[in-house]
Amino acid sequence: AQTHKILVLPGDGIGPEIMAEAVKVLKAFETPSRKFELRQELIGGCSIDATGKSVTDEVKQAALDSDAVLFAAVGGPKWDNQRRGLDGPEGGLLQLRKAMDIYANLRPCSSTTPSASIAKEFSPFRQEIIEGVDFVVVRENCGGAYFGRKVEEETYAMDEWGYSEAEVQRVTRLAAEVALRHDPPWPVISLDKANVLASSRLWRKVVDKTMAAEYPQVKIVHQLADSASLILATNPRSLNGVMLADNTFGDMISDQAGSIVGTLGVLPSASLNGLPGDKSLKTRPYGLYEPTHGSAPTIAGQNIANPVAMILCVALMFRYSLGLEDEARRIEEAVRGVLDSGLRTSDLGGKAGTQEMGDAIVAAL
Ligand code: NAD
Ligand code: IPM
Ligand code: MN
Repeated sequence: AQTHKILVLPGDGIGPEIMAEAVKVLKAFETPSRKFELRQELIGGCSIDATGKSVTDEVKQAALDSDAVLFAAVGGPKWDNQRRGLDGPEGGLLQLRKAMDIYANLRPCSSTTPSASIAKEFSPFRQEIIEGVDFVVVRENCGGAYFGRKVEEETYAMDEWGYSEAEVQRVTRLAAEVALRHDPPWPVISLDKANVLASSRLWRKVVDKTMAAEYPQVKIVHQLADSASLILATNPRSLNGVMLADNTFGDMISDQAGSIVGTLGVLPSASLNGLPGDKSLKTRPYGLYEPTHGSAPTIAGQNIANPVAMILCVALMFRYSLGLEDEARRIEEAVRGVLDSGLRTSDLGGKAGTQEMGDAIVAAL
């Protein structure tokens, strides 16, 4: 039998609740010839409490030894005034992204996936504005302001926001490869603040050079990040394609994407060090699958969190790390069917519990 080794990191807040549902879905795909070997570990606040570290070296190594990592969420008020940065709960995730060198974070958003009925009913935007919206944010995930030098003094603080040519080049290539997986190829829309930031000027120059030399068949558009944010609310269809952004702008625009569908509770993401089949990889392929949302501490422990984003992470893991495309689609179809049937958690105005939602999705598979 083929055995896939999956590292499971529930983390904090609603993390354990939504992860339990994702694991149910995963297990539904076990067959005599396909097994999932799950190893569960601590990350974030719960890891700080147990080990003093937001992620231990042992857990980082376990991630590197796995075929894929499922990650739920970290952080919460309990730890907010203790340690921050790489030592805080959120730092556990950042350290893991760095250790795995998963430099591209794919955050898909469309007004029809997982369910057109959700976007129709819950988007704050009029239907004609969001109809046909379909894009994927490719966020640079291992550089920029998140990982530069920091100064944190009583009356002064600084985050160095820098990029090297090589860092921009590799994420540009990955974005272009995502664009090429569509027929006809999607455009790449690169977000920056080249009118103000030096790092953005290098970003734009390297994106242009890489696209012209290696991907002449892919259209490249540059969009200032602040205006992209407005366009996402006024004419989001014009951003259809691959939205390539640095770590900070990508973080912001992907949360804003939650407004298209009406909740962050259904948006998954994939953090990768290459697409399947990438021949330039010098290590094994790594993938960490994490919802775009956080640990939602105010609704934790009540069995009301929406597990859909986490469950759709299993679909992305099947697609990008395990080569199980048909199975990925089956999960997406099951989620669509359950949402369209009207079963919804409280973020979508419904009464369904987290477990009920997971059970219904498993039943629909
Ligand atoms: P959040 O994403 O946790 O919550 C934003 C809003 O969305 C809240 O109203 C929350 O209740 C709701 N929400 C989020 N996920 C939901 C779900 N699955 N079902 C139903 N409702 C959901 O963001 P926040 O409140 O700004 O941050 C809370 C904590 O999470 C902070 O400590 C933050 O650092 C952390 N965080 C972690 C991650 C991560 O682990 N990847 C991502 C973002 C934020
Ligand atoms: C996300 C989160 C993280 C980020 C935090 C928790 C470190 O907001 O995954 O979008 O800023 O990258
Ligand atoms: Mn974020």
